[in-house]
Amino acid sequence: MQHNTCHNTEEFPDELPSGTLLLHGQYQIERYLIRGGFGITYLARDSLDRRVVIKECFPHMVCCRMHGLVQAKRREQQDQFDSLLRHFLREARRLAHLSHPNIVGVHQVFEENSTAYMALDHVDGMDLLSVVEEDPGRLTPDVIRDMLTKALGAISYVHSESILHRDISPDNILLDKLGNLTLIDFGAAKEHASREGRALSSLLAVKDGYSPQEFYLRDITQGPSSDLYALGATFYHLITGQAPPDSQQRLAAVAAGANDPFAPLDAETGDYTGEFLDTINKALEIFPEDRIQTADDWIEIIDPERRKQAALARAGKDKTIRVKISKLVADTNRNLRKAAKPGPKKRQGPARANGPGDPAAKQAPVDAGKSPTKPVDIFGNPIENVEAWLWDQDRIAESQPPPNRRQPRVKAMPVLRTLPDIHYPPAPEAEMPKPLPPIGRPLRPTLLRSLIGRLVAVGFYPPKPH
Ligand SMILES: Nc1ncnc2c1ncn2[C@@H]1O[C@H](COP(=O)(O)OP(=O)(O)O)[C@@H](O)[C@H]1O
Ligand SMILES: [Mg+2]
Repeated sequence: MQHNTCHNTEEFPDELPSGTLLLHGQYQIERYLIRGGFGITYLARDSLDRRVVIKECFPHMVCCRMHGLVQAKRREQQDQFDSLLRHFLREARRLAHLSHPNIVGVHQVFEENSTAYMALDHVDGMDLLSVVEEDPGRLTPDVIRDMLTKALGAISYVHSESILHRDISPDNILLDKLGNLTLIDFGAAKEHASREGRALSSLLAVKDGYSPQEFYLRDITQGPSSDLYALGATFYHLITGQAPPDSQQRLAAVAAGANDPFAPLDAETGDYTGEFLDTINKALEIFPEDRIQTADDWIEIIDPERRKQAALARAGKDKTIRVKISKLVADTNRNLRKAAKPGPKKRQGPARANGPGDPAAKQAPVDAGKSPTKPVDIFGNPIENVEAWLWDQDRIAESQPPPNRRQPRVKAMPVLRTLPDIHYPPAPEAEMPKPLPPIGRPLRPTLLRSLIGRLVAVGFYPPKPH
């Protein structure tokens, strides 16, 4: 290939002009959008007149365009350009295999003009840097919380595919009018375990304020918590209006025995819980081992529903859960028995405790004055009228199909006497705890879920590591 020293001139501009056709006319460039370290981004139309975004591999430090073709600026930069081109293609193909509602979709990856292109879904929205600078009122605490959960979902997925994004920052996250969030710009992404060549690492964009300290040095291990640092910095910026101090400065200060110049978010920062803000502070720890380690861990802390689901999933695998539930049920029963008066032999129908003027309400609470123990249900809710509660329990029990035809159902057992019907993964016989003999009806799955939810809420489950 001929190597002329080339510069961006009017005759040979770096950007493709509007109207340029690519891939045999399948795409037509509408206009140039922006240029970054690795490439040029254009707005374009596809053959079905849909709007798309085209990214062109164009690392302008080492290449230029002459007579329509992209080439290394100087002969000695050819290897570097080739290696960046290979990286662009590899990552474009990897991105094309990702499929997630919060990750930009890839239409096509192709080579032309001695370089490579990817055609992406066009997101009709703004990047978060523009939002925080031009329309910060849009970033309410509810919107921020929702965006963080979605961004973490996308990052968790990317990491599960063994990919690190490595360029998470407000300008690489788009927000559309409906509040949908899209992670873009996988130009710096790489496989967890892979090592990039010198060409890529020399060009690897570090973004002050967002990049963790390990991105500034070669040969330092990068991992999922590196992306989480950048995500923490992004949300720190969205919440406070400015990015945290750059991580190298922070590292230098701490190494010199001075204070870390980073000001952590605290409860005074807007309408957020301390727990939520602490997750961002924790992601922004200087040293990787002090950070939140996985996107899923982070989601579990900020999203109670996910925490419950995760606890349920763990409970399904935890062989000790039966013992814990038995203990909780036994404790509840003990309390209930202590408090309950012997009831009449035949029950007379609903005696609701809470209706005003209801004569039943006058019977209750049982022994309220004498007994210091107040009866509670399995969820710890006080039972005002034990008789009414027992009647309700019978009614519920009768509406359930019998668990096992051969087993007589025990009527009017007011409290839980049986172990939940959990499906365990196959395990060696010897390791399984001996199930207690079932006496009453089995717990319904919804009841079991609530019960485990309750265990999680009171900190009884999952077990704390010793
Ligand atoms: N799929 C897309 N839809 C809409 N705008 C996009 C899309 N991809 C990129 N952009 C816009 O172009 C900008 C640059 O794209 P990006 O992929 O981040 O490349 P760069 O490597 O130049 O940072 C983004 O900040 C965003 O404003
Ligand atoms: Mg970008």
